[in-house]
Amino acid sequence: MIEPLERALEAKFDALAQGLAEPGYAVMANFFPTDLALTLAAETQARWQAGAFRAAGVGRGPGWVRRPDIRGDEVCWLEDEAPSPALAQALATLDGLKAHLNAALFAGLEDFEVHLARYGRGAFYARHIDQFEDTTRRAISIVLYLNHQWRRQDGGALRLWTTPAPGREAPSSKTPYVEVLPEAGTLVAFRSADFWHEVRRARRPRLSLTGWFLRRAANPLEQLG
Ligand code: OGA
Ligand code: MN
Repeated sequence: MIEPLERALEAKFDALAQGLAEPGYAVMANFFPTDLALTLAAETQARWQAGAFRAAGVGRGPGWVRRPDIRGDEVCWLEDEAPSPALAQALATLDGLKAHLNAALFAGLEDFEVHLARYGRGAFYARHIDQFEDTTRRAISIVLYLNHQWRRQDGGALRLWTTPAPGREAPSSKTPYVEVLPEAGTLVAFRSADFWHEVRRARRPRLSLTGWFLRRAANPLEQLG
């Protein structure tokens, strides 16, 4: 028998899948229980205090550079370490979402790369698209916010331009957008290739768990001939 809790989660997965299919993004308040998000926040803050975060950069591999004029957050990549119970629960839920998207949308999502992020007071992330120039593996961007009682005057909103830009044409001043406050438990998901977005300057520290569902790497054999 399916437990009611599980069924509630399936309904949320369904709503997210529908949003990702059309219009290509979804915003869901209370995707995670507030207490889980706040436990993750406390753990994230403790890791930051312990020095586990590094300034984020732009680009990757040899092209990586620190650009505080573009992004001022600090990140802590989650790799193979043993997760805390709260983190394990969060990651298992996101894994369930990935499986759901594969079943519902034939999304072909294989992996998940994920980091914790902290924007200190005054930090922001200028308008960008979440794909690197040399790979299209990032299919879906996922942001889970961890901040208790965020107010509009705290800044730090995610601004997401809602017109897909598959050719990466930049939004104009007339392009519509939504703004999402980074409130504990809110989840945002969008197709990584298609949506310009930015993080407005935060006026108090702002925590999130941010990750990307990756599609299978192109098979090198398919590129022969
Ligand atoms: C990112 C990003 C958005 C947010 O890390 O690429 O755009 O709201 N984050 O934290
Ligand atoms: Mn981004």
